[in-house]
Amino acid sequence: MNALELLEQSPVMPVIVIQDIDTAVELARALVAGGVRSLEITLRSDAALQAITLISQEVPEALVGVGTVRNARQWDAAVQAGARFGVSPGLTADIAAAAQASGLPFLPGIATASEAMYAADQGFSVQKLFPAEAVGGVTLLKALHGPLPEITFCPTGGIHAENAGKYLALPNVKCVGGSWLTPKDAVEGRLWDVITELARAACQIRQAATR
Ligand code: 3PG
Repeated sequence: MNALELLEQSPVMPVIVIQDIDTAVELARALVAGGVRSLEITLRSDAALQAITLISQEVPEALVGVGTVRNARQWDAAVQAGARFGVSPGLTADIAAAAQASGLPFLPGIATASEAMYAADQGFSVQKLFPAEAVGGVTLLKALHGPLPEITFCPTGGIHAENAGKYLALPNVKCVGGSWLTPKDAVEGRLWDVITELARAACQIRQAATR
């Protein structure tokens, strides 16, 4: 699977922080039950790598990736743990080399035209616009589409159920990322039905936007 095919899996990619490893498998199952298969497990908690391994083993329907990759060591450790794709808030030469060597889909984070061009030059034409709302959101993506039509984006940062449709209606956006599918209180309370419902609603956003 390449990065474009990854974004086509579902219109929303959940950005997940696993605080308690005991919630990892059930959380993944709840999202998959709602139709969301690609799961970005961020390296923002001690449990992240273990969660990647556990979900990969226990929830084969899920496509588990790693997020918040900030250096090549983290990328290699996540791939070792079972990550099948990766996402970063930015891009360094070392991460680019590690991602290229792995052959796995990788979405570097960009926030300007120069960063998008640099990442495309490194072979990454599918990118994460981050932090989307803070750097210009829909307006910026429309402006980038003119000079950089070959680049496809997964914007994240400040996106939620109410504004996701505006992004998904853009020709250069195939998927959005966000943490709203996994609210902290719902995860801590193990309210898996709530999460499945959020995932199901998220899968319908694209249809609403393109109708
Ligand atoms: C990310 O890492 O992609 C963002 O921090 C997610 O942003 P959100 O919490 O605003 O959805």
